[in-house]
This record gives sequence, structure tokens and C-alpha cells, in this order.
Amino acid sequence: MRRGKSRILIISVVFLVSAVFLYTGPADAGSYLNSAHGDSTYGAKRSATGFPTDYPTGLCAHCHEQHASIGGSEPAPAGGPDKYLLFNTSNVSQTVNVCFNCHTDTGSYQAGGSLLNRCYSFRAGGWTLDTLDDILEAFSFTSPGASHHLDDISTFIDGRWGYTSDSNPCAACHNPHSAQGDPPNAPNSAKSISTRGWPVSRPSLHSRDNDAWGLWGDDIGERMSDYVGGLLYQAPYRYGSTTTFEPDGSTTQDGSNLTDFVSFCTDCHNATNTIYSTTLGGTLELIDWVTTGGESGGDKHGKNYATGGIDIKPPFLPTNYRQYVLSCTDCHEPHGSPNDYLIRREVNGSVLAGTVGSGTKDFGYLCRQCHVDDTNYSGRPNFWEYVHHISPDHPYTPNRCRSCHGSGGNPPPPIRCSLCHYHGSSAANRRTF
Ligand code: HEC
Ligand code: HEC
Ligand code: HEC
Ligand code: HEC
Ligand code: HEC
Ligand code: HEC
Ligand code: HEC
Ligand code: HEC
Repeated sequence: MRRGKSRILIISVVFLVSAVFLYTGPADAGSYLNSAHGDSTYGAKRSATGFPTDYPTGLCAHCHEQHASIGGSEPAPAGGPDKYLLFNTSNVSQTVNVCFNCHTDTGSYQAGGSLLNRCYSFRAGGWTLDTLDDILEAFSFTSPGASHHLDDISTFIDGRWGYTSDSNPCAACHNPHSAQGDPPNAPNSAKSISTRGWPVSRPSLHSRDNDAWGLWGDDIGERMSDYVGGLLYQAPYRYGSTTTFEPDGSTTQDGSNLTDFVSFCTDCHNATNTIYSTTLGGTLELIDWVTTGGESGGDKHGKNYATGGIDIKPPFLPTNYRQYVLSCTDCHEPHGSPNDYLIRREVNGSVLAGTVGSGTKDFGYLCRQCHVDDTNYSGRPNFWEYVHHISPDHPYTPNRCRSCHGSGGNPPPPIRCSLCHYHGSSAANRRTF
């Protein structure tokens, strides 16, 4: 437990537990008080018409109401309590969810009327110029762009890992009683070595008793360096730097300071789970991040190894090819992005030169953050002749151009990247992702 917590708060928590939650076990005071919500200085504090102004910050009642009324009047919003006695309906839609009642920059029930949060590229990438500043906004992207679809997540978790149809979809990835800020109470700062906290919990470790459900990433054994074992995790650069690295701006590069987001995301996205996406209008590609075997294995960005050679930019080194294993969050935002597929806007130290939408070469904006495009070959950025036709392990011999490129123009018209590059893809007898 952190120092400086008031004993009064513990007493009031215990009081509330007995007064309000006689029907079920209490939230563990230790992890709760260490969480962003339970902190007595900056934690949850509801401010609404009819809501008592003297409830101390961090009190359970800022989220839970045993009855619709407190002290004889019903505080806004009217109509509670909902599942788990939450003060508002737990989840209605992509943009209406009890968490958004506080986690929004305008009209927030959090005291002050605004609660600012940031994207992963801001916090871990150090891209502090980003203007996205709240969680509701992060879940509101539509095409081009995408957000993790909350209803689909609810459907997917119902019946797994102790979740039910009453579970809040945000609680697929966060324990509301334990989640910490990283950094806490500093909406305009990137992650730093001196302010680490751990926001997520692993879905497959979920327990219906939130006290029994720990954080993920906070302990040894839960980091990317643990996931890769004898292979190599290489932290991408921080924004605008070639000397500091994700996620915390230190010189650590091996993922020993990064949550094992592969195990986290692959609880759901793996080679066996069938997942329906309303946004994409079908079931998702299966993702095999573990099987080795080169052209007969899984994704080469995972534990499978690249073959032949890689045309790669720093801090990745061509000589280490076969070794690298990437984190899902090296390319993806967890909540949403103005790029399709939740692709990050800042990757490996700089901002993508264009939006990843439906354009023929849009994927190239992402690839060139790490891979070598034609800039050093013909001077053309986001052209890809070198890796496909020139490099020592090029897959395609450039003759009868039309048979692949179609007709017209010199250079010939580009071929849509997404025909050959996606999770699980192969082309020319090579695994191409
Ligand atoms: C699929 C998993 C997933 C879901 C679902 C999810 N989150 Fe997150 N959330 C994450 C990850 C991953 C991070 C980044 C963790 C890190 O930086 O270590 C994060 C970060 C956060 C943060 C911290 C942002 C900041 O400013 O640094 C907040 C707040 C948050 N989530 C709230 C929510 C809310 C509210 C919902 C539901 C509307 C939600 N999350 C749904 C995975 C998820
Ligand atoms: C009564 C208002 C309130 C509600 C409702 C609320 N939160 Fe928070 N939440 C906060 C405050 C205040 C913080 C601390 C903000 C900070 O550190 O800057 C916070 C912090 C967090 C953090 C840690 C990251 C951070 O910003 O520090 C996560 C993750 C989070 N909330 C998720 C959720 C989820 C998921 C829900 C819904 C189940 C939820 N919150 C509902 C007020 C609320
Ligand atoms: C930031 C909002 C928030 C705060 C503050 C909060 N809770 Fe919760 N609590 C939730 C949410 C959301 C759920 C439902 C989680 C789910 O959908 O799986 C929940 C679930 C519960 C449950 C049922 C699940 C379980 O773990 O047994 C209990 C009991 C509970 N809360 C007690 C408390 C107590 C006691 C406190 C204060 C010490 C507290 N809560 C503070 C949001 C909050
Ligand atoms: C090198 C960058 C990169 C990494 C690392 C990466 N992805 Fe992706 N991901 C993409 C791109 C590009 C797409 C769009 C092409 C596609 O659909 O596969 C995508 C698409 C997806 C999709 C949508 C699939 C569909 O059916 O369209 C999911 C789900 C996904 N990624 C999850 C993950 C998970 C989980 C991890 C980690 C195990 C991960 N990604 C690692 C770049 C990446
Ligand atoms: C965050 C950095 C990063 C991004 C972004 C990225 N890659 Fe990679 N890619 C790598 C690394 C590192 C390897 C080497 C993996 C290994 O050592 O096994 C690799 C390997 C590959 C390979 C295997 C090459 C071989 O010779 O076997 C292909 C194909 C590939 N990437 C395609 C892409 C495409 C297409 C994109 C864009 C959609 C992309 N990559 C985006 C870092 C990245
Ligand atoms: C609790 C299960 C769960 C976890 C954990 C989870 N996802 Fe998802 N994800 C889903 C579901 C369900 C969908 C389908 C709905 C949708 O399209 O958003 C999805 C869709 C996606 C998509 C496609 C979104 C689109 O519309 O293009 C991407 C990309 C993705 N997830 C990446 C990730 C990454 C990266 C992580 C880890 C940070 C992760 N997911 C963790 C359940 C999960
Ligand atoms: C067997 C299929 C194939 C043949 C034949 C082929 N190419 Fe390509 N070429 C590709 C692929 C795949 C790419 C990568 C996608 C892209 O960049 O358009 C590519 C990329 C290129 C690019 C970069 C285009 C861009 O906008 O990124 C140029 C230039 C190019 N090829 C020239 C040629 C020329 C000239 C010929 C004939 C002498 C030729 N290619 C024949 C498959 C082929
Ligand atoms: C017709 C199929 C096809 C298309 C279309 C295609 N590629 Fe490729 N690409 C390949 C193959 C095959 C490889 C070789 C994989 C290997 O080395 O094992 C490759 C390799 C790559 C690599 C990895 C180079 C390395 O070894 O480091 C990148 C990056 C890449 N392509 C980007 C793109 C981009 C960007 C586009 C769209 C402009 C594109 N590709 C279009 C088939 C294709």
C-alpha cells in the first residue's frame, strides 16, 4: 500500500462495505486504495445534482448506489441502480456506458466536469502532441478509423472466465477496483520511469470476485521480456528520439518494463477463438503469434521467424532477423484510432505520413515506420519496389509487369498491400506477416 492514505478513508470504506454491501464480499481495501479510483486525493468523485458533496474522494458510493436515492433524494442520473448497483446503466452502446459518465472531457460526473485520458501512442509512444483527450472519444471512431466494439466484447466474454451478460465490457480488460494510472493523475504526461502504474487486468484471470482478480504487468513474469523468453523484444523509439524507448522513455529496450500485451490480447485474439466483429462485418482472422517453422509457421512478427533477411530501420537491426517478437501494442491502440484496425498514429518514434484507410497503399504508411521503403533506393517514399524486386531475398522477378500490376504508367500502378499482408497471410510461398 502507498504511504499517505488517510485512516479515515479506510474506516469509511469499511463502513460503506458493511452499510452498502452486506450482500456480498467487500473490495480488498489494499488494492482498491492503490487504484486510481480509490485514491483519496484524485480518485473517483461524483459531482451531480442531488449527490452529497461531502462524500470523500474514492468512496465506493461514487460508482455504486444501494438504492436509487441517497438521503431521500435521487442524485443524477435518475434511474439507477443498475447491475452491481452501479449508479447508471452499465452498458448501453458504443458511446453510452457508465464509465463514460466520468471518462469524458465534457459533461463528466467526475468533480470538475472533465476527466482527461490519452491514447497509447501518447502515453507509451511519448507523442504528447496528440489532441485525443478522453476515453469516450477513443471509443467513438468510425470509418476511416475504428474502435474496439463494446457490444461485441460483451457478447464474446459472456459465459467465459466468470463473466456474465451483466458484465461491463470495459471490465473485460480493467478491474475497476484495482486499475492504476500510468502515470496517475497526470493527463498531460507520457509514462515515465518514476511514475509507473498498471492499468489492465487479464481477461482469462478474471474472477467474479474483483478482489481475487489482480493487475497484469505489475509483477515479474508478466512483461514482454518474459513472453519472448530466449527471443528478442525490441522496444520502439519514443516520439522524436533515437535514444529513449517505449513505454516509459527510459533506455531499457528489452521489454522488461512493458506489460506482456501479447498474452493479454491473445486471451481473445488467438488461433482458436471465433470472434465476430460488427465493424468488419464478419468473423476475425485467427492470429497465431506462437508457432515457429518459417513458411509453415505462424506470424513472423510473432515467435515465428523471418526468412531470408529483413529490410528494417533502427532500432531494429537486419542482423537480428529471426529473433524479433513484436507486441500487439507496437502497431495497435487498445481502444480506438482514426486509422482502420486500431492502427496507432505514432509508431517507432514518428507519426504515420498518412491515414490507414481503404487506399491501395495505405498499409505502407505503417510498414515504413519500421521497414525500408524506396526512399533510399529510388527516392520515392511509400513505394515498395526495393523489397519486392531488388533486395537479396526479393520474392518477385520483375518481368511481364502487367501480369501483376495491370496496365498503365511508369512506374506501373501499385498493387493493394492488403491482398498479401494481413495476420496469417502467405504469398509466393512465403509467410507474409
Ligand atoms: C480490449 C481491452 C480493453 C478494453 C475493452 C478497454 N480497455 Fe482501457 N485500456 C486497455 C489497454 C491495453 C490500455 C493501456 C494500458 C497501458 O498503457 O499499460 C488501456 C488504458 C485505459 C485507460 C488509461 C488511459 C490513459 O490516459 O493512460 C483508461 C482510463 C481506460 N483504459 C478506460 C477504459 C474504459 C472506460 C473502457 C470501456 C469503455 C476500456 N478502457 C476498455 C485495454 C482495454
Ligand atoms: C465517478 C467517476 C468515475 C467512474 C464512474 C469511472 N471512473 Fe475510472 N477514473 C476516475 C478517476 C477520477 C480516475 C483517476 C484519473 C487520473 O489518474 O487522472 C480514474 C482512473 C481510471 C483508470 C486508470 C487510468 C487513469 O486514468 O488514471 C482506469 C483504467 C479507469 N479509470 C477505468 C474505468 C472503468 C473501466 C470504468 C467503468 C467500469 C471507470 N473507470 C469508471 C473516475 C471514474
Ligand atoms: C469507478 C467505479 C467503482 C468504484 C469507485 C467502486 N466500484 Fe465496485 N464495481 C464497479 C463496477 C463497474 C463493477 C462491475 C464489474 C463488472 O461488470 O464485472 C463493480 C462490482 C462490484 C462488486 C461485485 C463484484 C465483486 O468484486 O464481488 C462489489 C461487491 C463491489 N463492486 C464493491 C465495491 C466496493 C466495496 C467499493 C469501494 C471500496 C467499490 N465497489 C468501488 C465500479 C466501481
Ligand atoms: C506489425 C504491426 C502489427 C502487429 C505487431 C500486430 N498487428 Fe494486428 N493488425 C495489423 C494490421 C496492418 C492489420 C490489418 C490487416 C489485417 O486485417 O490483418 C491488423 C489487424 C488486426 C486485427 C483485425 C483482424 C481482421 O480480421 O481483420 C486484429 C484482431 C489484430 N490485428 C490483433 C492483433 C493482435 C492480438 C496482435 C498481437 C498478438 C497484433 N494484432 C499485432 C498490424 C499489426
Ligand atoms: C514496429 C515495427 C514493424 C512494423 C510497423 C512492421 N514490421 Fe514487419 N517486421 C518487423 C520486424 C522486427 C521483423 C522481423 C521479425 C523476425 O525477426 O522474425 C519483421 C518481419 C516482417 C516480414 C518477414 C520478412 C521475411 O523476410 O521473412 C514481413 C513480410 C513483414 N515484416 C511485413 C510487414 C508489413 C507488410 C508491414 C506493414 C503492414 C510491417 N511488416 C510492419 C517490424 C515491423
Ligand atoms: C476480451 C476480449 C478481447 C481482448 C482482450 C482484446 N480484444 Fe480485440 N477484439 C475483441 C472483439 C470481440 C473484437 C470484435 C469487435 C470489433 O471489431 O471491435 C475485437 C476486434 C479487434 C480488432 C479489429 C477492430 C476493427 O474494427 O478493425 C483489433 C485490431 C483488435 N481487436 C486488437 C486488439 C488488441 C491489440 C488487443 C490487446 C491490446 C485486443 N484486441 C484485446 C475482443 C478482444
Ligand atoms: C509476380 C508479380 C510482379 C511482377 C511480374 C512485377 N511486379 Fe512489381 N511489384 C509486385 C509487388 C507485389 C509489389 C509490391 C506492391 C506495390 O508496391 O505495388 C511490386 C512493386 C513494384 C513497384 C513499386 C510500386 C509502388 O507504387 O509501390 C515498382 C516500381 C514495380 N513493382 C515495378 C515493376 C516492373 C517495372 C515490373 C516489370 C518489369 C514489375 N514490377 C513486375 C509484383 C510484381
Ligand atoms: C502480391 C502479393 C504482395 C503484395 C500486393 C504486396 N506484397 Fe509486400 N511482400 C510480398 C512477399 C511475398 C514478401 C516477401 C516475404 C518474405 O520475405 O518472406 C513481401 C515483403 C514485404 C515486406 C517485408 C520486407 C522485409 O523483408 O523486410 C514489406 C514491408 C512489404 N512487403 C510491404 C508491402 C507494402 C507496403 C505493400 C503495398 C504497397 C505490399 N507489400 C504489397 C508480397 C506482396
